[in-house]
Amino acid sequence: MNVPARQRAAAPTAVVTGAGRGIGRAIVLALVREGFDVVGIDVVFEPENKKKGLFEVKERVRGLGGRFLPVGGDISRLEDHDRMLDAAVGVCGRIDVLVNNAGVAPLERRDILETSPESFDRLMSVNARGPFFLTQNAARRMAAQKPRKDGVPSSIIFITSISAVVSSTSRPEYCLSKAALSMASTLYADALAAKGIGVYEVRPGLIATDMTAGVKAKYDRLIAGGLVPQGRWGLPEDVGRAVAALARGDLRFSTGAAIEVSGGMAIRRL
Ligand SMILES: NC(=O)c1ccc[n+]([C@@H]2O[C@H](COP(=O)([O-])OP(=O)(O)OC[C@H]3O[C@@H](n4cnc5c(N)ncnc54)[C@H](O)[C@@H]3O)[C@@H](O)[C@H]2O)c1
Repeated sequence: MNVPARQRAAAPTAVVTGAGRGIGRAIVLALVREGFDVVGIDVVFEPENKKKGLFEVKERVRGLGGRFLPVGGDISRLEDHDRMLDAAVGVCGRIDVLVNNAGVAPLERRDILETSPESFDRLMSVNARGPFFLTQNAARRMAAQKPRKDGVPSSIIFITSISAVVSSTSRPEYCLSKAALSMASTLYADALAAKGIGVYEVRPGLIATDMTAGVKAKYDRLIAGGLVPQGRWGLPEDVGRAVAALARGDLRFSTGAAIEVSGGMAIRRL
């Protein structure tokens, strides 16, 4: 690594879930550019594969002169949370920022009258239950740490979705899981404000990633028809920039805020 040891020791640490691709990957790179050491957690963990996944991200971070620790793990397995966070604290000494980004879409979109209990449970488990308890675990550790001398505030950031507040009847279990995660953000913001930990929600709109690749043609048509006021797909980097602004403390008097990164889809139009 080409970062001097003294500088490394002083760098704030961020833990990012779902860091191997898509939005999580862009969040990692944005945080590294802000000077964070990043611990990236992903359920896909292939050390031999440097072309994609966590170890491609590690190479990119190395190219930026930063530090990145890949950790394999499934956030829906609560029994793995201590191992994941112990790895972060063991290598970096502390956790300053947690970004709950990992999430899944239904394996198959089905009308609300056909939603299966299995798909419902899967989405609630990965998208809501996992991050709720990972946050509980991380928040206990963060609350026990001394504040940083460099002024970077402690924060927890939830990547929810516009689906937390917008109906899609072909994937109700996704909407419900993101609505639950949105409330988790509000609850933790309330509970942790007095402990000096800011909690924020970021709601992406339509972002071009592997998750949306299968529905690209449908949304291309809708975007061409004016669905998104800013007239384009969002990029993972759009979300990365928003998270970096939150993590470096630009919105430090706004705990509990929900920021849309959707090209204006929150605007109600006639
Ligand atoms: N792409 C969009 O349009 C969009 C819009 C709104 C919200 N989001 C949300 O943003 C987040 C990232 O989405 P994306 O488009 O980058 O998705 P993606 O599928 O491209 O990437 C998700 C990453 O999370 C990892 N992951 C999945 N389940 C995991 C688990 N149980 N434990 C650990 N890692 C796990 C995957 O392996 C993958 O690397 C998700 O929470 C998603 O719901 C995406």
